[in-house]
Amino acid sequence: MRKPVVDEAVRYLAWDSQFFDKRVGVFDMRANKSLELALGLAVQKRYELIYIYSPFAIKETLISQYSLLDVGGHITFTKDISHHEVRKVKLASEISEYQRDDPTPELLRIALLSGHLSRFKIDFLLPIGSFERLYETWLAKTLGNRPNAAIYTYQADGRIAGFITAEWNNSKCTIGLLAVLESYQGQGIGARLIKHVEDACMANKVISIEVKTQLSNASARALYLKNFFAEQDRSFLYHAHIVEQSEQ
Ligand SMILES: CC(C)(COP(=O)(O)OP(=O)(O)OC[C@H]1O[C@@H](n2cnc3c(N)ncnc32)[C@H](O)[C@@H]1OP(=O)(O)O)[C@@H](O)C(=O)NCCC(=O)NCCS
Repeated sequence: MRKPVVDEAVRYLAWDSQFFDKRVGVFDMRANKSLELALGLAVQKRYELIYIYSPFAIKETLISQYSLLDVGGHITFTKDISHHEVRKVKLASEISEYQRDDPTPELLRIALLSGHLSRFKIDFLLPIGSFERLYETWLAKTLGNRPNAAIYTYQADGRIAGFITAEWNNSKCTIGLLAVLESYQGQGIGARLIKHVEDACMANKVISIEVKTQLSNASARALYLKNFFAEQDRSFLYHAHIVEQSEQ
């Protein structure tokens, strides 16, 4: 098989480039070793932002003409549900599928909470408001992708106390966003929302569920492990921003 040439090592990301209105790419150090060489070539290709996945921590904060920000790492969990049996238990009556076509301010607020450790919130070099715009876009995308996607909310005291988003693609389900309001945390709501998605998966003949979170998100990691998800992959994650050249 042909080896990737170095200048192909940074892969162009069309959606992200359009969203941020800058040339965005991704570089995976697990498949390519020479970061310095790749970033040197990325300058010539006018990349302005590069997501770098790495199996080890990178100490340098300036490489080639890029400034590197540590944005908290990345961890993927999966759960095999191919042997699960359809539960006969009654579904939690507090949980229901969100029916509207647009996200309400209440839903948007809790969606932003789900991203409190998001790399797009941590990265202060992104344009102001990027994080909020991104989460709003993801909610809208999920709502527009029904019936292959769903948002489930947990109602308590007349408001949304928790929510989860899920997307089905053939036999795989991906959990996108999950959050429980601070004052309702630690009461088993997160676990019940996950179980609700698992039950919906059984109806959709799904055999595995995947969810990604930040390495730094101790409560989410503990929640997934407690609910029998297994760690699949982890990496350090950096955002490399091109350093503006001052006019000579
Ligand atoms: C992660 C989150 C959804 C958990 O929801 P929750 O309703 O509090 O979770 P549960 O009460 O169902 O907890 C189930 C298990 O998760 C783990 N857990 C939950 N919160 C935890 C915390 N703060 N610290 C350590 N473990 C935690 C525990 O193992 C817990 O079981 P236990 O209570 O028997 O010890 C919630 O903390 C949250 O919304 N955080 C902010 C948003 C976020 O980080 N979302 C995840 C994005 S991927």
